[in-house]
Amino acid sequence: MDQVIELARQRIAHATHPVSFSGAGLSAESGIATFRDKNEDALWAKFDPAQLASQEGFNADPSLVMNWYNQRRKIVAAAKPNAAHMALGVQSEWVHITQNVDHLLEAGGADPDNVLHLHGSLYADHCNGECGYRENVDIADPPGLRNCPDCGAPMRPSVAWFGESLSNGIFERAISEVEKADLLLVVGTSAMVVPAASLIGIAKQNGAEIIVVNTQATETHDATDIHLTGKASETVAALFS
Ligand code: OAD
Repeated sequence: MDQVIELARQRIAHATHPVSFSGAGLSAESGIATFRDKNEDALWAKFDPAQLASQEGFNADPSLVMNWYNQRRKIVAAAKPNAAHMALGVQSEWVHITQNVDHLLEAGGADPDNVLHLHGSLYADHCNGECGYRENVDIADPPGLRNCPDCGAPMRPSVAWFGESLSNGIFERAISEVEKADLLLVVGTSAMVVPAASLIGIAKQNGAEIIVVNTQATETHDATDIHLTGKASETVAALFS
């Protein structure tokens, strides 16, 4: 493993446009549950995504959905960046594309302008209607279900739900970054959710070296050049030490 880490370190050191692509495993060691891990704490093992992460679920019971996100917000508010967030965060020339709705890369030192939140953010709500109203949320003390002050429709968390398009051109920006990338460091994602996971293949097709850090084998195996099996905090930190 040490030799493989060393090889990955060299590739990273020589990269001219390095990009990270992360998922829930990056924040697992900060105490934030993943979605599809092989353990009973994984969110989609305990909860129904159709009920809690879809427009239909929100329409059926908006309070249930808002309360569930508010519980997650309080967990994230108490979380600290781990060694992987900090190792990545201080790489000022890197672009970070993340599926995570926490801001732990930023807490680890990343410039917010260099972080693309593909699946939105727990730090904001927006109007569930058409008016476009959006407001920041104190995640340590989030407001409950309420109506939009502009149009009266319910407010909802500013996160992507199943069946929705990714908003504000964020996916197009991510494509543009991975097309330029000569190295993509894929950390802690099952790579099972599209379109996000398709960024790995796009990077590969455009010539990027694909280095994967995960505690287990993943769906990325066809594209992977170097697979580093291990926890993000130890492995990512070792890549930059
Ligand atoms: P998943 O929960 O699907 O996958 C987490 C991955 O992290 C798994 O492959 C684990 O093996 C790995 N992992 C767990 N702990 C780790 C650790 N300490 N170090 C390294 N790897 C570790 O999470 P995502 O791939 O992020 O979408 O899921 C993608 C999307 O599915 C999420 O953004 C969310 C979810 O539904 C929305 O909410 C829209």
